[in-house]
Amino acid sequence: MKELLATIKQNKCIAEGIWAITLTLPESVGKIRGGQFANLSVGDGSFPLKRPLGICSADGDDITLCYQLKGDGTHLLLQRKAGEKLSVLLPLGNGFDLGDAKNIAVVGGGVGIFPLAAVVREYAGKRNFYSYIGFRGRQYACLENVFAEGGRLTVATDDGSMGVKGNAVQAFLADYKNTDADLIISCGPPVMLRALKSALKERGITTKCLVSLEERMGCGIGACLVCACKKTDGHNARVCKDGPVFDIDEVEL
Ligand SMILES: Cc1cc2nc3c(=O)[nH]c(=O)nc-3n(C[C@H](O)[C@H](O)[C@H](O)COP(=O)(O)OP(=O)(O)OC[C@H]3O[C@@H](n4cnc5c(N)ncnc54)[C@H](O)[C@@H]3O)c2cc1C
Ligand code: FES
Repeated sequence: MKELLATIKQNKCIAEGIWAITLTLPESVGKIRGGQFANLSVGDGSFPLKRPLGICSADGDDITLCYQLKGDGTHLLLQRKAGEKLSVLLPLGNGFDLGDAKNIAVVGGGVGIFPLAAVVREYAGKRNFYSYIGFRGRQYACLENVFAEGGRLTVATDDGSMGVKGNAVQAFLADYKNTDADLIISCGPPVMLRALKSALKERGITTKCLVSLEERMGCGIGACLVCACKKTDGHNARVCKDGPVFDIDEVEL
């Protein structure tokens, strides 16, 4: 993990309210695993806390983070221009460990698709992916090409304006029997992960499932405990340091 002053290469809108920022790092940070994240400054001294964003792609010393406009921090970030410098701490967290899995079901909703895209990008052609990605509507859809390159893709939208009507979990459950998935990886809003966990239990699906959690964060490096989550064994875990990726059976959702 390194704290670096990165140069913005590009900062552009890729869907309604979704931006992609590419940063050139001044030095290598070693291998980045899909599901790891970066803590990025928004480039304004009155906002000292960095924002955690999944690393969506890494290409040499360039990394791309995709962000949804939410509060003050992300609205400041969209004003940053190519050539400006931002402080970034990375890579953080554990990322997805695919082990020996050959056929992987990917279930992503909203901004949860960004860390999953990094996994599919890295392993496209080497593993087979069945991806189910959900958006509120067509105008928010992005990165479909990345998931399509990894294997079979189903897009779901809440309003039915693109792909199948419904959410990513529903799309996955409708198609699960047509896959030979030996691993499920997922990232999305808490309500989506809860729905996935209870559906797996109700249907007796025992395939290993890894989920990436999102919690409010402070330091991002395991020191402040702001990001604590509850484990099923009664202990707490730090999402930033022990996660953000956990076995779905290991955490309370
Ligand atoms: C591991 C991880 C990976 C993430 N990856 C992405 C991603 O790839 N793309 C993306 O759009 N968003 C991602 N998020 C959520 C993103 O961090 C928040 O949307 C962002 O910090 C909001 O900042 P803001 O200043 O615009 O919002 P505000 O609500 O004004 O933020 C106020 C404070 O709360 C924190 N905060 C607010 N919402 C969240 C949240 N959901 N998770 C964590 N901290 C939050 C902010 O960092 C900030 O410190 C990720 C969160 C985590 C924990
Ligand atoms: S954000 Fe500080 S311990 Fe996780």
